[in-house]
Amino acid sequence: MDTAVVPVPLGDRSYAVEIGPGVRARLPEVVAEIGVRKVAVVTSRPVEEVPDPGVPYTVVTVPDGEEHKTVATVERICLAFAEFGLTRLDGVVSVGGGTITDMVGLAAALFHRGLPVVHLPTTLLAQVDASVGGKTAVNLSCGKNLVGVYWQPQSVLCDTDYLRTLPDREWTNGYGEIARCHFIGAGDLRGLPLEEQIAASVRLKASIVTADERDDGLRHLLNYGHTLGHALEHASDFRVRHGEAVAIGTVFAGRLARALGRIDDARADEHREVVAHYGLPLELPSDVDTERLIALMRLDKKAMSGLTFVLDGPSGAELVTGVREDVVATVLDAMPRSGR
Ligand code: GLY
Repeated sequence: MDTAVVPVPLGDRSYAVEIGPGVRARLPEVVAEIGVRKVAVVTSRPVEEVPDPGVPYTVVTVPDGEEHKTVATVERICLAFAEFGLTRLDGVVSVGGGTITDMVGLAAALFHRGLPVVHLPTTLLAQVDASVGGKTAVNLSCGKNLVGVYWQPQSVLCDTDYLRTLPDREWTNGYGEIARCHFIGAGDLRGLPLEEQIAASVRLKASIVTADERDDGLRHLLNYGHTLGHALEHASDFRVRHGEAVAIGTVFAGRLARALGRIDDARADEHREVVAHYGLPLELPSDVDTERLIALMRLDKKAMSGLTFVLDGPSGAELVTGVREDVVATVLDAMPRSGR
């Protein structure tokens, strides 16, 4: 496949997501188009994987991982910007996975009240989801992604060559997000070449973000499988990775929609089949109890009126509020359990 270019039309904040092997080589042109004088490249990757942006630059190395996605790390990044003398005429580049694009996006939004940022996502998860759409955030000790802003990048370069060395669990992480696209409008992506699956996921996300940049309604669809997913990540102290948790949450969403009479058995089974196709986990870990999961799901950002889920139904996926707790508990109790 040649490079796919997916536009994200957002008025004066519009940009393109370029997907394909070697697209990191476009960085100097992209930086020249933005017109910045110098850039800080923030990465968790080896320095040799950072492309030359074509203007004077510094490389700031920070650790990857949810445990490092904190206000303290954002402060460290901003201090490095200050030390390098970044001004409002300059820019920022991120090279890394989703935790890096989230943190660097936030640092770019805050430093001097906003510098242009270009994302070079290096994991499948970051390419299909985290780097696109302008959500930036860090975690607090009491919850995930609680401090953040919307800050759209100027460009996203998804170089699929970065995926060549991806560890197995990082593939799982990304495929969890691709699998949930099946139920929110992307259609059946199974069997397509990887780059086409990435492009289709990004195209779907771009269309949703364009319609609802600030997550007032439609953008909730992107959280398919995430209500249980986020609770499970938290309840397992992040032992269950995001994409794995979303995969289990997607199976659960199918079962819950079935229990509520919104879909039939065949459609509920399709949830399990799609998740299984990508080699993703289908079972809840045996040591995570139903009450704890429900307590965490009550804290979900979407939950403004009782337990709230994005669920499939006769008119497709939609936000469903006030789901009865006893139904949720029964469906959770009936989920298969693994020894993990
Ligand atoms: N990752 C969900 C969103 O960007 O809205």
